[in-house]
Amino acid sequence: MAKAFVVGHPIQHSRSPLIHGHWLKTYGLDGSYERIDVAPVDFGEFLRGFHARGFAGGNVTLPHKEAAFLGVDRRTERAQRVGAVNTLWVEDGVLWGDNTDVPGFIGNLDVSLGTGWERTVDTALVLGAGGAARAVVAGLQDRPLKRIFVANRTLSKAEDLARDLRPGSSVSIETSAWEALGRVIPHAQLIVNTTSLGMAGQPTLAIDFSRAPRNAAVADIVYVPLETPLLTAAAAQNLRTVDGLGMLLHQAVPGFRRWFGVTPEVTPHLRALILADIEAAR
Ligand code: ATR
Repeated sequence: MAKAFVVGHPIQHSRSPLIHGHWLKTYGLDGSYERIDVAPVDFGEFLRGFHARGFAGGNVTLPHKEAAFLGVDRRTERAQRVGAVNTLWVEDGVLWGDNTDVPGFIGNLDVSLGTGWERTVDTALVLGAGGAARAVVAGLQDRPLKRIFVANRTLSKAEDLARDLRPGSSVSIETSAWEALGRVIPHAQLIVNTTSLGMAGQPTLAIDFSRAPRNAAVADIVYVPLETPLLTAAAAQNLRTVDGLGMLLHQAVPGFRRWFGVTPEVTPHLRALILADIEAAR
């Protein structure tokens, strides 16, 4: 029986067991996926010991994504670029780390906007400069865009991100002061919120989309609530919107394939299952 986990601290809120549990059942696989709470001081030991405890691998969530990055033997190219690891597995005795937020974000965009969406996007605007922003920029960088603007309340963090992700990039990465957002929006055919603003219990992200390009799409990685005030404002201007739940579901696919050997499908049924859980928790 293949065993996998999600490790974090705290971990009770994680919806990953629901997603992977659904797939295990759907594909009739003899496997398990469990939550494991590990405090930061114990994480190094956990990382070195999980395979001996019978686990094929697992997901890593807050606050361990950087420690996992530093602790693995080898990283995928995209994990290397992002500087964080959220998926672990062991191959020929080597501990590997991947960052599946990258294909999770882009894969969801492809499904939501339709493949080829990048043909109408030359400029993207990413709001925020944390770990999620890095994964989003790393994903967008692989597409033939002209430039990506990163805007953040703390400008120096946007500059750090741009400096780290620029090497080898065929897409230009520029920064924008938070106060200057209004000057970038008219040029951005894709706008992505990666900040915590708009999340239940957090302040709203108020953006004026009246001067956004008419064909622009607005994506939010926040998924509680599913329709954030940002997406409501975008829809009011007849812009296309992409909610954050799709990214959560799509980022789970590569890990499941590694541990259990089946490429799982993100279906409307799975989405409804997670949505019901979100609603029940509110
Ligand atoms: P994650 O790893 O999930 O991306 P994070 O590293 O904590 O989380 O990043 C949170 C992002 O939300 C940051 O870009 C943060 O801006 P700062 O770098 O200036 O802190 C942004 N953010 C959080 N609260 C904000 C607020 N009230 N206004 C603007 N941006 C905010």
